[in-house]
Amino acid sequence: MKKMYIQTLGCAMNTKDTEHILAELNQKENYKQTDDPKDADLIMINTCSIREKPVQKLFSEIGVYKKIRKEGSKLGVCGCTASHLGQDIIKRAPIVDFVLGARNVSKITEAIKTPKFVAVDITNDESEYEFATNNSSPYKAYVNISSGCDKRCTYCIVPNTRGVEISIPPQIIINEIKSSVANGAKEIFLLGQNVNNYGQFTNKELPKMDFTDLLKTISEIDGVERIRFTSPHPLHMGEKFLQEFANNPKIAKNMHMPLQSGSTSLLKSMKRGYSKEWFIKVASRLKELCPEATISTDIIVGFPGESDADFEDSLDVIRQVGFSQIFSFKYSPRPHTPAQDFEDQVPNELASARLLKLQNLHKEMLDELMPTKLNSTCKVYFDQLKSDGYIAGRTDDNFLVKLKCSDDSVLGTIRDVKIIETKRMDMVGELA
Ligand code: SAH
Ligand code: SF4
Ligand code: F3S
Repeated sequence: MKKMYIQTLGCAMNTKDTEHILAELNQKENYKQTDDPKDADLIMINTCSIREKPVQKLFSEIGVYKKIRKEGSKLGVCGCTASHLGQDIIKRAPIVDFVLGARNVSKITEAIKTPKFVAVDITNDESEYEFATNNSSPYKAYVNISSGCDKRCTYCIVPNTRGVEISIPPQIIINEIKSSVANGAKEIFLLGQNVNNYGQFTNKELPKMDFTDLLKTISEIDGVERIRFTSPHPLHMGEKFLQEFANNPKIAKNMHMPLQSGSTSLLKSMKRGYSKEWFIKVASRLKELCPEATISTDIIVGFPGESDADFEDSLDVIRQVGFSQIFSFKYSPRPHTPAQDFEDQVPNELASARLLKLQNLHKEMLDELMPTKLNSTCKVYFDQLKSDGYIAGRTDDNFLVKLKCSDDSVLGTIRDVKIIETKRMDMVGELA
């Protein structure tokens, strides 16, 4: 059996593509996964392009693998950077044997057998391809429900790496979930760039089903106990969806609402489609319908034209909404995006200072919030065995809880847990 090694950068969609690549090569080409690149006959890097840093990382990693790999091994570049740099990757790093873009994962078996194979077509439609599967966790299953994105936010490269938005037919999704559940998964994690726009873009006539209908259908599958999804877009959070989110007990009570900026004028130049007030109104409605829900978000600082007042608007939304988790990023100009040519690019030092200020504000808010959870009881789905010996899992509202116990039988079960210690980002608990 040949051995394969894969390094995965980027988001959950890349993690899922990695699962598909590994399963296809395992089941169709008899490759076995290894954790040691020195020992591998095939090394792959599944790349991310969202900011410039991961792109630079790709070329430094190629240099490392060039030195350590065993003689005769193959090197492949997959994922979003493969999509937008294509053939140029081989020009810049001739040791690369194949380049397989994010929307071409189904061609992996061809890629490893064809010299200097390049497939980066972002119009390639894999929405009905039934991939070999092999969940990376026995307890939870990541399931793609759509690919690509049509929003074209002015800073974002994703529409150029994953192409236009296409929904995967409901029956394929349902079959995959049924088989994951049969293999022990209790939690289903639905993936797409705009999950709550599901059903709007399809290649064929499919049974009409929007995201809310899909959630309902999935929650009725025997054995599904928890449903999470990422990323929803704030624009598609209408009353029907919010009601289902609030009232369906199988839907985990954490909503990711990517804000990007609190300034209405910046939101306009980002082409996000909503205003500061509109975002706050949707978040308030969500809290009204479902007071126990947490809201997490993504925020970009230093977008072109961001003034002190614009930045203050972002801080203001953070204070008003009270996010449980913030993924914050310094704006990074991307190729093929309108914003890279905008005037008033914000100097790097100013963007760094803003990022720090935003993160400090959020730390202060968490330092107030987390101690209030002491001695409370919550339901935790234990699905991780940490390297430090802790068994860990997440609450319904998505806080990480570590359990001080080495009883493996807890893994794969949902338990009532009493919180005995709180930290800024996680908690320690004991079985209640
Ligand atoms: N579809 C999701 C976003 C996926 S990308 C959504 O619309 O929310 C994940 C996050 O990366 C984005 O939410 C954004 O905050 C960040 N991001 C995207 N492009 C970026 C850029 N050019 N510079 C910095 N951060 C960026
Ligand atoms: Fe990028 Fe915007 Fe699409 Fe999200 S919605 S993937 S930020 S273009
Ligand atoms: Fe990166 Fe592509 Fe995901 S650019 S964030 S891996 S969609």
